[in-house]
Amino acid sequence: MSQEHTAPVPELTETEVLPEPAAVTIVVPTFNESENIRELLHQITESVPARLPCEVVFVDDSTDDTPAVIDEAAKDCPFPVTVLHRDEPVGGLGGAVVEGIRAAGSDWVVVMDGDCQHPPSLVPELVATGEHAGAGLVVASRYIKGGSRAGLAGGYRIAVSRAATWLTKSLFPRRLHGISDPMSGFFAVRRSSVTADELKPLGYKILLELAVRDRPRTVTEVPFVFQERYAGESKSTAQEGRRFLRHLAGLRTADPLSRMVLFGLIGLTGFVPNLAALWAMTEAGLHYLPAEIVANQFGVAWNFLLIEKFLFRDRRRHRHWADRTARFALLANADLVLRIPLIALLVSHFGLAVLPATALALVITFVLRFVGTEALVYLPRRKSRTA
Ligand code: GDD
Ligand code: MN
Repeated sequence: MSQEHTAPVPELTETEVLPEPAAVTIVVPTFNESENIRELLHQITESVPARLPCEVVFVDDSTDDTPAVIDEAAKDCPFPVTVLHRDEPVGGLGGAVVEGIRAAGSDWVVVMDGDCQHPPSLVPELVATGEHAGAGLVVASRYIKGGSRAGLAGGYRIAVSRAATWLTKSLFPRRLHGISDPMSGFFAVRRSSVTADELKPLGYKILLELAVRDRPRTVTEVPFVFQERYAGESKSTAQEGRRFLRHLAGLRTADPLSRMVLFGLIGLTGFVPNLAALWAMTEAGLHYLPAEIVANQFGVAWNFLLIEKFLFRDRRRHRHWADRTARFALLANADLVLRIPLIALLVSHFGLAVLPATALALVITFVLRFVGTEALVYLPRRKSRTA
């Protein structure tokens, strides 16, 4: 069924020096999977070692007896089995996978779930395909010909999965080019194309994290059929869904230009509370000038909340919230106060007409406000005087 894999692989020497003749480390993240371990190790034993030397690394965050079950079942395995139990589950599933990749002894690493939804019989094929194509990453995909998501329970989960895949692909059209299933939890990656220090794993979508931040050179795909879970239930929760959205936001705003765009989009939505407050206050009989000033604070507060939640979520820790609020409010109001003299300057000194001067002033104060917010509200405080 799979591609022939013979011992000397001459094409490989030009790009990589493998520590051993092609071997694979299978990394399995586990969270309370004691009922699935024996079956998984059995399936691996049946289909992998005869075709490809392997070791299995479990990275476990369980609160049940999964590590003990693994140790017991490992005694019957014809390959090395390791359990790395983490007392602190940093980064959840994704964090566990990165730990496993760090600990891997061979250049090829296959990541798969511990509940038998990913068929181990595909492991040798994933690696063989990667070597053949000189690829850094081989994705097992449910969405190409020959693949399917038979085991994905229920119309609701299918719809959510589709929507998430669509959203993700639209946010990263170039980096996910050639990856039909960026949500897959089943893939082979060369350890040499993983820069573990670049990664900030957050929850389930570790393949997405790898593909976007590490950008492996060549990517290929192999179809697979997502099986039914062998025992137990999915560990994914609504909280995991929110974590995914935060993960997406973090990946999408990793560069300053995208951050500025999001900052601007959030700023635009601030018009709504601003105008609504202005309307309410003038309706109530307040003079429009003080109403403008107060209404602006509604827009500022709205923007601040969204920016805190979606744009600078990871950078809030550098300052106390009251400090951030005060600085943000100051910058946002300075923007208003500065704009009028700036327009006057552009008109009288540089001879611009009022409309282009206003447009230019809007752009200048916007960029200043973005740069100022980033630098004065969300950057770590400097410890030394260097740079
Ligand atoms: N170490 C660790 N820490 N492992 C975890 C954690 C955690 O916090 N959460 C889940 N796992 C393990 C589970 O024990 C299982 O072995 C594997 O990660 C997948 O978890 P499931 O809960 O079974 O995930 P799923 O079936 O809902 O989702 C799978 O399919 C999705 C595609 O539909 C995963 O592969 C997803 O990554 C994938 O997107
Ligand atoms: Mn599962």
